[in-house]
Amino acid sequence: MKIASIVGARPQFIKAAAVSRELRKAHQELLIHTGQHYDYRMSQAFFDELEIPTPDVNLDVGSGSHGAQTAAMLTGLEEIFVREAPDRVLVYGDTNSTLAGALAAAKLRIPVAHVEAGLRSFNRGMPEEINRVVADHIADQLFCPSPVAVKHLAAEGITQGVHCVGDVMADVLRWARQGMDAPSRVLASLDLAPGGYALATVHRAENTDDSERLAGIVAALTALGEPVVMPLHPRTRHALRESTGLGDTSGPEPLAGSNVRCIEPVSYLEMMRLVRGARLVLTDSGGLQKEAYWLKVPCLTLRDETEWVETVDQGWNTLVGASAETILERAKNFRPPADHPPLYGDGAAAEKIILLLG
Ligand code: UD1
Repeated sequence: MKIASIVGARPQFIKAAAVSRELRKAHQELLIHTGQHYDYRMSQAFFDELEIPTPDVNLDVGSGSHGAQTAAMLTGLEEIFVREAPDRVLVYGDTNSTLAGALAAAKLRIPVAHVEAGLRSFNRGMPEEINRVVADHIADQLFCPSPVAVKHLAAEGITQGVHCVGDVMADVLRWARQGMDAPSRVLASLDLAPGGYALATVHRAENTDDSERLAGIVAALTALGEPVVMPLHPRTRHALRESTGLGDTSGPEPLAGSNVRCIEPVSYLEMMRLVRGARLVLTDSGGLQKEAYWLKVPCLTLRDETEWVETVDQGWNTLVGASAETILERAKNFRPPADHPPLYGDGAAAEKIILLLG
C-alpha cells in the first residue's frame, strides 16, 4: 500500500519516529511535512536525532492564523494527494496539520487512519479539541492509546475500525532509553544535578495568550524556591518578553536573574534526560504528562483539564490550572503513591498499527 503520513509539529515528529520505521517494512510511505513547525530546534533536530526519514515533501506553510495556516495546508495536501494517489492517509494527534491531512484526504475519498484517536478534554475552546474531534469523525481506522479513548469514541457513535493499541510515544521512549544514559549536557551547562531542579514547559495558547494565566504561572515558578529549568517554545518566549517588557530579543533571557533558567527548545533525548532528573515536572503539554509518568516523576499539569486522565487517576499527575497559590501549594505537598502500574500499552503500538493497516 502507498500510505501518505502527515506531520507538521514537534510531537508528530516524535510519533512518526515510532511509526515510520515499522511502516516502511511493509508499505511504501510518502512522508509529508506541512512545515507548521520550521525552526531547526522545533523540527529538523528531531529528524536528525530520532532518525526519521527525510520528508518526501515539505509544504513550508509556516505560521499564521488558524484559518490561513490550515487553508495553506489543505491546498498543498490536496495537490499532492491528487498527484500521488495514496491508498491511505495517516494523521497523528490533534494539530492543525492533523485536521488538514484528514480533511484533504476525506474530500478526495481517501481513507484516513488517525493515530492517538479518542482523546477528549471536553473543552471546545481548545483548537486541539476541534482538530481531534473532526479527525476522529473522518477517520475509518482509529488507533487509541487507552480504553478511555475507546469509550469516548463510542459515546460519539464511533465503534467501527476502533483499535486500542497503546501509545506510540511509549514506543519511542522504549527505543530511546539507551540513548538517554549519557549525562545531560543542559544540566551540566546550568550547573545543576539530577534531583536538584524542577522542569517546566508552557506552550498552550490558553496559557501563553492569556496574560493573567501566564502571570500566575510565572509568579509560581519564580517563587518555587528551587531552580526551574524551562525550555521555551518560541511563542512562549515571545509572550514572556511581551509580559516582562523585555521586547528586545538581543537582551537577556526572559526571567533572567530569577531561579527560572529559560533555555532554547531541547532535543527529544535531552528532554527525556531532563524529565528523568527532575524532582517535579510542571507542564501544559500532553506528551510530557505521560513521559513524566513513565519516568516516575510527579507532574503538575498547568491546565484545568487533561486528556491523560489515567495519570491523574493513578495519583502521579494533578491539575493545578494557572493560579500561583495552587501551583505553589501542590509543588510543595504533592506526593505520588508507591503504586505505578503500566499505562498506555507496552511500547509496541506501532507494530500493532502496521498489522491493522493491512
Ligand atoms: C502546535 C499545536 C499544539 C501542539 C504544539 C506542539 C495546533 C493548533 N497546535 O501548537 O497542539 O501541542 O504544536 O508544539 O496545531 N513558532 C516559531 N517557530 C516554529 C513554530 C512556531 O517561531 O518552528 C511560533 C510562531 O510564532 C507561531 C507560534 O509559534 O505563530 C505558534 O505555532 P503554531 O504552529 O501555530 O502552534 P503551536 O503553538 O506550536
